[in-house]
Amino acid sequence: VVRVRVAVNLGDRSYDAVVEEGARHEVASLIRHRAPDAQLAVIIAPAQIQSQPWFGIDTSVRSTVLTIPDGEAAKTLSVLESLTTQLSELRLSRRDVLVAVGGGATTDVVGFAAATYLRGVGVIHVATSLVAQVDAAIGGKTAVNLAVGKNLVGAFHQPLGVLCDLETLATLPERERRSGLGEMAKCWLLTGRTARDASSSSFADAVTCAVELKATLVSTDEREGGQRVLLNYGHTLAHALEAEHLAGRPLDLRHGEAVAVGVAFAARLARHLGRVDASYVSDTDAVLAHWHLPSRLPAVADRDELVTAMGRDKKAHHNLTFVLAGADGFGTVDNVAPTDVRAVLEEFGRER
Ligand SMILES: NC(=O)c1ccc[n+]([C@@H]2O[C@H](COP(=O)([O-])OP(=O)(O)OC[C@H]3O[C@@H](n4cnc5c(N)ncnc54)[C@H](O)[C@@H]3O)[C@@H](O)[C@H]2O)c1
Repeated sequence: VVRVRVAVNLGDRSYDAVVEEGARHEVASLIRHRAPDAQLAVIIAPAQIQSQPWFGIDTSVRSTVLTIPDGEAAKTLSVLESLTTQLSELRLSRRDVLVAVGGGATTDVVGFAAATYLRGVGVIHVATSLVAQVDAAIGGKTAVNLAVGKNLVGAFHQPLGVLCDLETLATLPERERRSGLGEMAKCWLLTGRTARDASSSSFADAVTCAVELKATLVSTDEREGGQRVLLNYGHTLAHALEAEHLAGRPLDLRHGEAVAVGVAFAARLARHLGRVDASYVSDTDAVLAHWHLPSRLPAVADRDELVTAMGRDKKAHHNLTFVLAGADGFGTVDNVAPTDVRAVLEEFGRER
């Protein structure tokens, strides 16, 4: 049985992320250790999650289950208002805890409720989607959306613990799994692992690799000024592909698939700039293929619009900025010439 405990080191706000089949059964022991004075635990999950055969959380203290909308629909200020109103009606105090059970949308909104209700209460994340396990639940970034944009209102609030329960992934729909696989493959490459490593590793190893990377980067860079930016590997093109998606020409790519295409492009751009050789590109494609992820530009993607959208990427600071592999590891490369980007994109688009 796989059981890995990964430390997120943030002084007195340190906590562990546990990767395990059945990690959800550790909620009670986490509450005993991290919130010993808690008398009430409020478990918050969408109905979609509550209907899964594995759902059932033992907290060892008095507990209540509250229901929030499923997925992105939960990430609104009105859900936050109704949720925190219910917490107040339940008389949840600062020594009590919230337990979020679900995907990244659930951990984002429950995390934000925990950050703001009574100016901060403890929260435990039981991450049940692959995206939540390898990314969203770890690191303390919480947010809801506004009509004008995603994740515009939020806070940093570290959880008391994160439980990545591999058993719950059995019921995760395939489309949702693919979304997480893209981020997971990105982490695999960022840690210098190869396709050969992938073929001799288990799925749990790959989840653990991503959790360890995120934990390390968050520990050294909680608020994203330095190394945490490496997690944007593949995201410059991914965001542009998604912007095109939003502009009304559906590409039908899950975020993780867009990241995979972005990672494949970043490898080619790094080779074009002389930072890596051709074997890095083929190994990247092989890593993506290992997890059945795309490594080609969707035929419908408009190259001009993609270059423009990459220039607008909020993390690009108005120049074309990419996280790229290089001889000394990964780094942010600023001021990449639009003509280089365009040339690599053209060539990438011709690959089939
Ligand atoms: N805070 C961060 O650092 C961070 C990082 C990455 C993503 N995010 C956020 O995470 C969200 C995406 O996360 P997500 O992909 O998990 O989306 P999600 O929470 O919407 O979950 C996707 C779907 O899968 C279902 N689901 C989850 N686990 C399941 C299971 N085990 N069995 C059956 N169904 C299950 C959910 O109910 C939902 O319908 C976005 O809102 C994104 O902004 C946040």
